[in-house]
Amino acid sequence: MTTLPADTILSVRDLRTWFTTKRFTAKAVDGVTFDLKRGETLAVVGESGSGKSVTSLSIMGLVSKPGGIAGGEILFRDRKERVHDLARLTPKAFRAMRGREIAMIFQEPMTSLNPLYTVGDQIGEMIALHEPVSRQEKRRRALEMLQHVEIPDAANRLDDYPHQMSGGMRQRVMIAMALSCNPSR
Ligand SMILES: Nc1ncnc2c1ncn2[C@@H]1O[C@H](COP(=O)(O)OP(=O)(O)O)[C@@H](O)[C@H]1O
Ligand SMILES: [Mg+2]
Repeated sequence: MTTLPADTILSVRDLRTWFTTKRFTAKAVDGVTFDLKRGETLAVVGESGSGKSVTSLSIMGLVSKPGGIAGGEILFRDRKERVHDLARLTPKAFRAMRGREIAMIFQEPMTSLNPLYTVGDQIGEMIALHEPVSRQEKRRRALEMLQHVEIPDAANRLDDYPHQMSGGMRQRVMIAMALSCNPSR
């Protein structure tokens, strides 16, 4: 496997993510290359349908059939400085990686949040997925995350269901969930 410079967290190289059926192949991402350095923020800009979401989903290992990675490498440096090729990671290894090492804020908060659970419970579950925490601790941490994303009157919003919040607040809840395992470096 190719090596990754020490200051680089992520290196996407010639990524190809295709959706293939018997009759047709949609090359949603076809030869994308970029690097992300430690402490850097990278904005990927492009017209609608140009492949930004599919690129992100590829990095997260969330492309579903009939889509799949047809070529390229996604080299990722974890907290312990181990380098993985996310394009070739097993589903099991990916589950350990998501949330803990790498997270995504989804675009559609109304379809990504569960309408049946309060936002506090959903943030709490995200925390509990990666570390054992008591009920009280889960609630305390969920509140802390809501405050962190600057939801006004957070203590009273913790028990809201997604439909009780505005679109912008729901997006903040998604951000809180993505940050709840502290993936930032
Ligand atoms: N599940 C899918 N099946 C087939 N084609 C898809 C699927 N998801 C996305 N695409 C196609 O891949 C291309 C890139 O889409 P997308 O990454 O969502 O664009 P962007 O996020 O830049 O607006 C588009 O042509 C889109 O129609
Ligand atoms: Mg998109």
